[in-house]
Formats: sequence, structure tokens, C-alpha cells
Amino acid sequence: MGSNLRKVAVVGLGYVGLPLALAFSKQGNEVIGIDLDDRKLQALEQGRSYIKDIPDEQVKMAFERQRFSATKDMRRLREADVIIICVPTPLTEDNEPDLTYLMQAAANIRDHLRIGQIIVLESSTYPGTTREVLKPTLEQSGLIVGTDIFLGYSPERVDPGNRSYPLEVIPKVISGITEKCASAVEDVYKTVFQTVVKISSTDAAEMTKLLENTYRFVNISFINEIAQLCTSMGIDVWEVIEAARSKPFGFSAFFPGPGVGGHCIPVDPLYLQWRSKQFGAASSFIAISREINHKMPVYIVDRIKEALARESLTGVKILVVGVTFKPNIDDIRESSSIEVMKLLQQEGALLSYYDPYVPEITLQGKKLTGTRLSENELCLADCAIIAVNHDELPLQRIIDYVPLVYDTRNALKGMSGKAKVIRLGGGVSDSN
Ligand SMILES: NC(=O)c1ccc[n+]([C@@H]2O[C@H](COP(=O)([O-])OP(=O)(O)OC[C@H]3O[C@@H](n4cnc5c(N)ncnc54)[C@H](O)[C@@H]3O)[C@@H](O)[C@H]2O)c1
Repeated sequence: MGSNLRKVAVVGLGYVGLPLALAFSKQGNEVIGIDLDDRKLQALEQGRSYIKDIPDEQVKMAFERQRFSATKDMRRLREADVIIICVPTPLTEDNEPDLTYLMQAAANIRDHLRIGQIIVLESSTYPGTTREVLKPTLEQSGLIVGTDIFLGYSPERVDPGNRSYPLEVIPKVISGITEKCASAVEDVYKTVFQTVVKISSTDAAEMTKLLENTYRFVNISFINEIAQLCTSMGIDVWEVIEAARSKPFGFSAFFPGPGVGGHCIPVDPLYLQWRSKQFGAASSFIAISREINHKMPVYIVDRIKEALARESLTGVKILVVGVTFKPNIDDIRESSSIEVMKLLQQEGALLSYYDPYVPEITLQGKKLTGTRLSENELCLADCAIIAVNHDELPLQRIIDYVPLVYDTRNALKGMSGKAKVIRLGGGVSDSN
């Protein structure tokens, strides 16, 4: 690792920006965290973290060592040697790239640029964004990329909830608009990341991120389709996946579930699809995967109706276990579990939910508070759906009291209780 200390500004202190800012600060760099959200700035100033993976202690320590400040004052960008952009890149209502946040951040940076600064985009986006969108905006300042300032792209791979891979050990792909830009970015990132993978262009680095996430998107939908066809053939998909993964090469296991969720996996493939259309290129895998994943909640609701032998779910009391988009996090953005709940609500079901990480949700305008799973609540439920397999779920309690459990994650493997358990992708034994 290199030893040069720098002043680093991180623009956007969310799931990506805050861990990155703290990682740079931990290595001795002075970090200016920049965000527009007053609640986040206030929390940080009070030494409070708003991200589950980051303990308050880490925030307090960064402030105490005087290596971290949090502000909305864009003028402070001028102080920085390195500016890293971690703002959201969502979709518009028409499912097209929405670069509003990025354009706003780029304009703010342009207005405070000075010679010698290194600017790195980390937000996920389509190939060409750094070169075609960010570079011209920054050059409106009169400073030239590759000569006066240095611009690169580095995709973020942070995996919230995954304790096996701290940020610093995940290899970091980096790139630059010119070779000089790439080397400047490499020098900076080498001070924090154990492995830096330098590639030839910002377009290739942007595409790397989209490939990684589209790969997950396509494979999750593929295994969801396989799960459905296994069920129709009376074969247990979970057993088949376990058997297939005994092959030491050529197979990577993906697991069925209610669909894909979060800010990245359902969004990034649509950035790629949009970009491919501009080149007249096909993206058929994305289209078909999207269709399969969208239909998963309907499939699940249909299986529940079948298991309850009911045409309608009006008045049926259903407990949904887990509402986040993946296990062991508190993020419900684009959660497929919530999509299942919306469908159940439309069907007239009386919903309750349990999630140790989410105290309250709003479902189609209605506030819902998570239950505590009292004996009474469990006894009243007609059915429970295990939608997310958090590590800490009182599963035994659920199968001891609720008469029917639909397990979309094989979370109840090897367990038994009073409940009739049906699994997504389950085989013959599930229908007995
Ligand atoms: N969350 C993940 O696990 C993850 C993983 C890899 C990549 N990404 C990508 O990283 C990017 C950021 O995602 P996130 O999950 O951290 O988003 P987030 O919503 O958690 O955080 C973004 C932050 O940016 C702030 N912001 C918006 N506009 C700003 C501006 N002009 N100036 C300063 N701050 C501004 C927001 O207030 C917010 O705090 C996205 O492109 C996302 O696709 C996310």
C-alpha cells in the first residue's frame, strides 16, 4: 500500500459513500464528506451512523481523529486533492437512466475545480457516462482532463450485510480517461484497497459493473424459472442446486426467491438495456429476465391460494417474514418482498410483517408497524411467508404456531414443527 496522505472529498454519503469516506479516513487521509441531506449530516456530527454495517464508534473515531468532517458546503470541494462521486443513479419513470444527481454533483464540482485535482466517479452507470457526460461538464471550467485535472471511473462493489468481505479486501477496478488519469487514480486507491485492478478505459470499467450486476440479474431469474419448472415436475430445486454445486468447475450456484431487489440489481441492467438500444444492439437476456422476475410475486401468491384452497385471499391473515431486499440489512429499496405484500394487499389479505431490521413500512399509502411475533399474533395468522432469510429469525416459533408456511428461501431446511411447510421450488414432498 502507498503512504501518500491526501485530502479526499466524498460527494454523497450513502451506502457507498460513507463506508468509502471512513476507509480513506482510517488510512490517515483527511476526508470531507459532502451530502445535501441535513438528517445525515446531523447524525454524523452527533457521532451516529445511519448504516447498519457501520457502528457509531467508527464515525465517532473518524471525527475524534480530526480526519473527517461532514458538510453541505460545496466550496470545500476546492480544498480536496481527490473528489469521489457516490451519488444515486436511479431510473426515471420510463425506466431510463436518471443522471439528475450526477449532473448536479458534476456542476458543483466544476464550479470549484482547481488544477491538479483527481475526480473519480463511483456511481453505477452506463458505459460512456464518464467520457461523454462528466468530462465535458468538468471541462466547462476551462481545465483540461488529462493535463490540468485527472478523471477516472471505479465501480463500487460494496456488499451491505456481507461480513466476509470488508471494503478494503474487495479488489477495486479502476480506470482513467487517459493513462495519466488512470495512474493518478491507481495511486490514490492503492492507499486503501489491497488489490487494485487497472483496466484500459472508463467505458470498460463502467461496463464491468453492469456485467457483474446483469450476471446476477439474469442468473437469479434463470433459477427462479428452473424452480418453477422443478415444482411442476415434482423435483426439489434446492436438492438439485446442492448436487450441481458439487461440481468443482463450470457451475455457480444461484438461489430462488421472490425476485430481485435493491438499488443495483433491478436498476443496472436497465441502464445497459437503454445504452444497447442507442447502438441498435440486442439485450434479449435482460428483457426476458425482467419479465420472469416481475412475475415471481404473482407466482408466489398463486401458490399460497392453491395451498389454502382458496380462490380469494380476502380476510386471510398473512404474516410476511422479512421485508428487506436481501438478508441481514435494513434496506427495503425495490424489495421483492414488498412487491409480494402489495399483491396480497390488493387481494384483500390482512397483512402483518416481522423484520428485526425494519420497524415500520408504508405500503400503498398505509403505515404498517412490524409485529413482535407474540403467541397470540402467531396463532391468529392463517399463513406465513418466509420472504427473506435473515440470520436471526425465530423460525422455530413460527412453524410451531402458524398452520401454513410458504418458504421462499429454504430457510426451514431440516426443521420441523406443527406447520405445513411448502417451499418455492419444492418437490413432491411439499405437496403432501
Ligand atoms: N448500495 C449499494 O450496495 C451499492 C453498491 C454498488 C454500487 N452502488 C451505486 O452507488 C451509487 C450510490 O448508491 P447508494 O446506495 O450509496 O445511494 P444512497 O441513496 O444511499 O446515497 C446517496 C447519497 O448521495 C446524496 N446526494 C444526492 N445528490 C447529491 C449531490 N448533488 N451532492 C451531494 N450529495 C448528494 C444523497 O443525499 C445520499 O445521501 C449508485 O450509483 C448505486 O447504484 C450502490
